[in-house]
Amino acid sequence: MAPRGVYHLLSAMYPRTTPTGHPRGLRSLPRRFQILFGFIAFIITYVILFGTPNRNSIPTVEDLKHPSIPNKLNPFAPIAHKAPPVQANSTRGDSSWFSDWKWHSPFSSTITLDENRALLPPLDDRPIVYTFYDEDTKKSEETLRAENDLLLIWRRAWWAQGFKPVVLGRGEAMQNPLYGAMQRMGIQPELEVEIAKWLAWATMGTGILSNWLALPMAAYDHPELVSLRRGEFLTKITSLDKMQSAIFYGERETIRKTIETIIRKADFKTAKTIMDVLPKDEINVEKSGGAIAYYDGTVLESKYKSVFEDLRKDDKANGLNKLATLINAHLHTTWQNSFSSGIAILKPLPQHTSALVENALDIARNLTQCPLNPLPTSCPPNHRKCTPCTGSGNTIAYHSHYQNKTTLFTIGTVPHPYTLASLHYQQDAITAQTVRRDFKTHDLWLEEVTADLLPAKTSAEARVVRFKEAVAGIHGRHHSLWLTAERERAADLDWLFGFKVPDFPPFDRDRPAAPKGDFAPLSDAEAQAEHALLSKARDVVRSSVHEVVRVRDVLEAWSLADTEAWRFAKAWSARRKVERDVWEQGEKGFAGAEGGRREGWVEEGKKEGKGRWDD
Ligand SMILES: *[C@@H]1O[C@H](CO)[C@@H](O)[C@H](O)[C@H]1NC(C)=O
Ligand SMILES: *[C@@H]1O[C@H](CO)[C@@H](O)[C@H](O)[C@H]1NC(C)=O
Ligand SMILES: *[C@@H]1O[C@H](CO)[C@@H](O)[C@H](O)[C@H]1NC(C)=O
Repeated sequence: MAPRGVYHLLSAMYPRTTPTGHPRGLRSLPRRFQILFGFIAFIITYVILFGTPNRNSIPTVEDLKHPSIPNKLNPFAPIAHKAPPVQANSTRGDSSWFSDWKWHSPFSSTITLDENRALLPPLDDRPIVYTFYDEDTKKSEETLRAENDLLLIWRRAWWAQGFKPVVLGRGEAMQNPLYGAMQRMGIQPELEVEIAKWLAWATMGTGILSNWLALPMAAYDHPELVSLRRGEFLTKITSLDKMQSAIFYGERETIRKTIETIIRKADFKTAKTIMDVLPKDEINVEKSGGAIAYYDGTVLESKYKSVFEDLRKDDKANGLNKLATLINAHLHTTWQNSFSSGIAILKPLPQHTSALVENALDIARNLTQCPLNPLPTSCPPNHRKCTPCTGSGNTIAYHSHYQNKTTLFTIGTVPHPYTLASLHYQQDAITAQTVRRDFKTHDLWLEEVTADLLPAKTSAEARVVRFKEAVAGIHGRHHSLWLTAERERAADLDWLFGFKVPDFPPFDRDRPAAPKGDFAPLSDAEAQAEHALLSKARDVVRSSVHEVVRVRDVLEAWSLADTEAWRFAKAWSARRKVERDVWEQGEKGFAGAEGGRREGWVEEGKKEGKGRWDD
């Protein structure tokens, strides 16, 4: 198009006919002008395509051919079809994405028609898990806060396991038409809370009803969790054997019918718990698969005595806080136990990339250190034979190549090609010229990372597809965390892992061993140089200065597959954050609708230290 554009421009300046009607196109000019104009047209075209010529700095067409020239550099590329529509909540910062089943295609832009829009797998459906919290504002501030902490722990744990946790309250129960009838029946207070919980559940519909002291504590792919996530519930309400009333699940219509039967027929004079009033033939009891930990009164009394004692005191806040710390520690221990081979920090091209993986190392250290735990040698109620954290048991190792192993958790740091080149070749001012002269290999990073997965001569396309599988595949997504080298911090780790990741220095006895496979420690000067390069590269990657963008574009074209990997990983974690933000917004709505407050709750809780804990 460009040469033609220039031709038109010139033709306009030199109309085809003279005022006297004689043809006067370019051809009518003297020959040396024709040559001159031809030359100018050529230069302009070149500048439009490749920027200002700069001795030796222009990548040859050969360079750019690998493996295809992105549209931005190739104005002649045909536009085949329209870009897919923009989906709701599909951008964050400078990342944007399109979620689609075709996500396995090597280069997102072949489908999104936008180099900056990554193609991600569709979001998983999260089945809803409800709990019921009957807030009593007469309780002490500390107690309410401690209960809130427990609810937060409950939500985080279920979220991390692929569910959508929702806290219901009196508000939802009162919306149920049966609520008034229930109030007039003089039900004992403890049971009344249980009935209100069912009424709230019936208002909301299909899903899982969980006690807020029942939490998933197992590997993500535990069969029981897999089956719960599938969300295909039987025609009967199901409860779990040995879990009393901790977990129920069912379909909206069944829930509605069951609660109706209860209100109509149950004998509330003698009934004490929900189990006494449930119509037995309408409940299906399944064998518990062991994925859910339930901290009910009996378990606390027999296994976690000191916590139990504190919960019996007048001021329960201290006991509740201890319980919260205990549950969080058990969630963390469960995670550590399911990754018994420890954590792999991906560090390809290790000579000059220590600064690059610093964040990954920080996260890995915190994950392998021991959680605060009031009973450090205790195990979760559903996993009596766990290996309690001792610090030295959890290993961190540097790996040059990604390893696909179920018991190994990988933390990868994906650099922009500019960042990697800057560190690897130790250059703080990369120009198009240096790319051509000094850089020998395309897609350096991806080649190293996938070296164990794929044979040596594999194409960049195949490598990038495999990489995407490692990041976002059904297996990969729960066995790895991917950062980008340019982002300073990973947000939301607690929600990804499902427990509060320690952010305090470890006690000496818990200090995890130093990572294996490291090279000789860097000297201070070397470390400083790496940091300087990295911080400069971060600026380049963020920059919008024209010349900088141009060099960046050259590097992106030089390493198309590495660039694709970087964009993919960046969009993948941005989408995770957005998914949670959107949900958090929705949750605020629920809390607002909540009217919960119940007279006499505190007194009830005092009775023999029971009440809340074994409901
Ligand atoms: C998600 O999208 C909805 C509707 O488009 C919008 O109201 C909301 O603010 C978005 N939330 C986030 C976190 O981007
Ligand atoms: C890792 O192995 C699992 C099977 O154990 C497989 O489903 C998955 O695709 C593999 N991931 C990669 C990146 O090769
Ligand atoms: C890890 O723990 C340290 C303290 O040991 C803390 O400064 C840092 O912020 C923590 N990092 C993350 C990602 O939580």
